[in-house]
Amino acid sequence: MVGKRQARVGRFDVAAALAARALPGAMTPLIEQARLDAKMILERASGRAPSPLIGEQAEPAPLREVDLLSILPRAFVEKLRSAERDVRMLTGRLILGKNPSPLIERSRPAAGAVVSLPRKTPAMTRPLKVTDVIRETDDAVSIYLTEADGSALEFRPGQFLSVDVIIDGERCRRAYSLASACMAGTPRHITVKRIANGRVSNHLNDTIRVGDELAVLGPSGNFTVEPRPVNERHLVMIAGGSGITPIMSILETILRLEDRSRVTLIYGNRSWKDVIFRDRLAALRDEVGDRLIVDHVLEHAPEDWSGGRGLLTRDVLEGRLDALGIQDDGLQRYFLCGPTPMMQAAHEALQARGVAANRVAEERFTRPEEREGAKGSSEAELVMISRCGHEHGIQVEPGQTILEAALAAGIDMPFSCAMGGCGACRVRLTSGDVRMEEPNCLSRAELEQRYVLTCVGRPHAQSSILVEGA
Ligand code: FES
Repeated sequence: MVGKRQARVGRFDVAAALAARALPGAMTPLIEQARLDAKMILERASGRAPSPLIGEQAEPAPLREVDLLSILPRAFVEKLRSAERDVRMLTGRLILGKNPSPLIERSRPAAGAVVSLPRKTPAMTRPLKVTDVIRETDDAVSIYLTEADGSALEFRPGQFLSVDVIIDGERCRRAYSLASACMAGTPRHITVKRIANGRVSNHLNDTIRVGDELAVLGPSGNFTVEPRPVNERHLVMIAGGSGITPIMSILETILRLEDRSRVTLIYGNRSWKDVIFRDRLAALRDEVGDRLIVDHVLEHAPEDWSGGRGLLTRDVLEGRLDALGIQDDGLQRYFLCGPTPMMQAAHEALQARGVAANRVAEERFTRPEEREGAKGSSEAELVMISRCGHEHGIQVEPGQTILEAALAAGIDMPFSCAMGGCGACRVRLTSGDVRMEEPNCLSRAELEQRYVLTCVGRPHAQSSILVEGA
């Protein structure tokens, strides 16, 4: 049996489709008949009428499915559709608060392009301009950034940038959260706290200057909220040290854009002089009043300190939640960001109060040297990548991630942060053995379904992966 194929859309089809959309529905059958008659007459006149001896005849597209742009040049239509997507995303972001931006996606290397290994060239990053550098504490610096053309960075509150720097000839990548409120006209900045032996944090604290360029990927990350002015909610946040950065972005955005929402922050630090955004939090509190409660907890508190004391252990956290009178109402959402022991303690304290895990969001960052496992095979391994109905075979060298090898082979793979934090590079492992650095952002359920992250995944045997939705 020979199937029917669909005829090319021509000017008659487009004119008829326009007429059908403009005129009352009762006229559609007449317009359809006129279209078919006109096409037949035209084809006969030009000698292109289908022969009755040919079994396969082209069917005209149904009138309601005729693409009005189909008679325009393809390149022009592509540009038009791309512009339409941008307008839709921008209006969605501005009016409805939706994201993410397709503009970020387009910074990926094009399919077929040969990309150097990231270790050599950060080909997938883009440069941002450093417009200001402000010291927050002795150990923390805020770096204000714009896009290279001076426009504001688009992001969602709580997201992070993956910063790429070359130190002593070696390329290093770290994630730093944007700590600004996510509002038009608010300067965007990351805040970097110096950590002992932290190569990138020390490098940035010591060397970054106004006018420099910073190579970044992103923003990325799902530790975020969608502000809506109609909301009336209570967010409870627990932060330790530099874990305040995404929390600051979320809480300030919410308090400024949701007039009836409130935030309680429990914020742990070593001492008063280590408290990042101390003045900014106090000023915000003056501005929004009781809608913001900040509970500072100090490990080394002065004698006359009346707030919480100690590390944010489970006991201390339970004590602070009680002291603040926080009763879980079954609706509150909780946001955690800080050192791993603090996060563990916070989870335990919340669980003990009956808070469901799906109301607790967390952000974890670890330095590469703190990550465990996944050095990969000691030999090159073949990885088959199924994408858009095509199969590509790549050799992944020892030490390389699948993403690095795929990009080097010119395969257009999805990714964003390139450090296991956003999930953009998630693929399904259909056979073989791929191991990942820990921690990463995959949930237990995703791991059970054999999802892997190509940016921190290395094969331990010949493997096959499927890029879904591509
Ligand atoms: S690119 Fe973000 S997790 Fe892999």
